[in-house]
Amino acid sequence: MRHLLDFQGWTKAQVENTLDTARVMAEVLERPVKKVPALQGFTVATVFFEPSTRTRISFELAARRMSADVVSFAAQASSLQKGESYKDTLLTLEAMGIDAYIIRADSAGVPHQATRWVKGVVVNGGDGRRAHPTQALLDAYTLLEALGTLEGRKIAIVGDILHSRVARSNVELLPLLGAEVWVAGPPTLLPQSLPGARLTPHLDEALAEADAVMVLRLQKERMEAGLIHLQDYIAHYQVTEARLKKAKPGAFLLHPGPMNRDIELEGTLADSERSLVNRQVRNGVAVRMAVLYHLLVGKGR
Ligand code: CP
Repeated sequence: MRHLLDFQGWTKAQVENTLDTARVMAEVLERPVKKVPALQGFTVATVFFEPSTRTRISFELAARRMSADVVSFAAQASSLQKGESYKDTLLTLEAMGIDAYIIRADSAGVPHQATRWVKGVVVNGGDGRRAHPTQALLDAYTLLEALGTLEGRKIAIVGDILHSRVARSNVELLPLLGAEVWVAGPPTLLPQSLPGARLTPHLDEALAEADAVMVLRLQKERMEAGLIHLQDYIAHYQVTEARLKKAKPGAFLLHPGPMNRDIELEGTLADSERSLVNRQVRNGVAVRMAVLYHLLVGKGR
């Protein structure tokens, strides 16, 4: 594994190895001095052509916790605004000696293209509706922390599946660890098929006896007008305390963020004891430390 673009070709052992390293990194983050010299001398660039809070900041923190130098490319304040292309932007950074690029883009395939343009390692920080692999890794890490194992566990992913790179990456990853993944949403927001998952337009069917429920945002920025009626969506698909009674008692709740409270999720549930949302964010730093470490030092092993 020279880059991390998606989970094509990944084995269960590779996933477990990455998550084992993340557990070691989580121990580092518990220490009074939360810093190790593992990436001293390396330079990591976050190149986000689309907005982000969690992914960009946690990658930058992850790199700094391992003593790398960090460059943060801000699209709005860059020469993209003068018409410079993604390719020339990356070639410009390459000329300055970047070792790793974390790339987010509105179009699927940009991180993959970037591997042909630059010599450094490329990590997909989310491309279009295609993949968001480090989000799925931190989701798996968080689920394992809460449930102990994913073997035979039912995980429901609910909401705007059609436009969700988080759903796609989780559907690739979680079955490798033994989970049974169901996805549910309105028919207009479900893909025709999603290999690795059971699809249903019936929320209750996905929630029934689920061990954990991952709720997704309506991605209006990727949606054609008229694809859903918001009040209908809230009436039939909002995850509420009452609807969660279909799931296993105490079933856990996840959300990759950003969250639109009282649209896809009853607002108070996000702050309830069953919510793992803050643990997802916290674990994102350790997981991204593990990914950078494996790619830059461990050469992907
Ligand atoms: N989960 C996620 O990708 O959040 P950001 O868009 O804030 O990075």
